[in-house]
Amino acid sequence: MPEIILSTKKLTKTFGEFRALENLSVEIQAGKITGLIGPNGAGKSTLFHTLTGILKPTGGQVFPKSQEITNSRTNQLFKMGLAFTFQLPRPFKKMSVLENVMISPVNQIGERLTGPFFQNTEMKREEAKIRDRAMQILEFVTLDHLANQAAGKISGGQMKLLELARVLMVNPSMILLDEPAAGVSPTLTELLIEKITELNRQGTTFLIIEHNMDFIMKRCDPVIAMAEGKVIFEGTPAEAQRNPLLLEAYLGAAIND
Ligand SMILES: Nc1ncnc2c1ncn2[C@@H]1O[C@H](COP(=O)(O)OP(=O)(O)OP(=O)(O)O)[C@@H](O)[C@H]1O
Ligand SMILES: [Mg+2]
Repeated sequence: MPEIILSTKKLTKTFGEFRALENLSVEIQAGKITGLIGPNGAGKSTLFHTLTGILKPTGGQVFPKSQEITNSRTNQLFKMGLAFTFQLPRPFKKMSVLENVMISPVNQIGERLTGPFFQNTEMKREEAKIRDRAMQILEFVTLDHLANQAAGKISGGQMKLLELARVLMVNPSMILLDEPAAGVSPTLTELLIEKITELNRQGTTFLIIEHNMDFIMKRCDPVIAMAEGKVIFEGTPAEAQRNPLLLEAYLGAAIND
């Protein structure tokens, strides 16, 4: 039996009368790169936001491993090794790329950086350690040459890599990525895929929302598809490609748009 790292039971999220998630039960296997696909408005980001505690579910439950976290705060999730990025990157634009990585939510370091925290020697040593680690991670995502650049000045693709760098600071066992390749150049997308693959080989579990089918088909297994707040398919990428329900969901969404 595969180990389940994260699951939901009958998860529901409503916005007024609208049901963005409806009795959604999924199980995410440890050690895999699971792809989450579905037409615009299917509820993919809403699922992420309820998984990560940003949104409170209307009903149902979320379990990392066997522990229920339905109403946890997001910093508690980081401590449990569950890290995530937003569909749209949200860097602190005036801060440098390096500072953005340093204030990643590890023990709320960000709040302490500017305060009296780093005044004494021990704290300065701590800061140096964090800086070193941040630089190593920036090297890994190939942004080290931009360390001192303001985060608002880097390209959209580089911002996606910066988001990945920020979550890597917490040494997560699982990373949720919401459209990491959206608006990213083919070269940077290749790089991103390479880094994700490398991290996965080292044991990191991924759950990735993507519209880039090339990315999904080559790198994700299993694939989960959603439409109208429900899971409509789970299987291999090859099975996904020939599934009529999926084709219908995408066509339906295109017609409704
Ligand atoms: N805060 C909100 N208030 C009201 N409706 C919302 C809210 N967030 C999402 N929705 C609605 O819920 C549905 C699902 O949205 P969601 O962002 O989860 O879709 P998605 O699958 O991520 O789509 P995309 O591929 O376009 O990112 C959409 O119809 C959206 O308009
Ligand atoms: Mg979305």
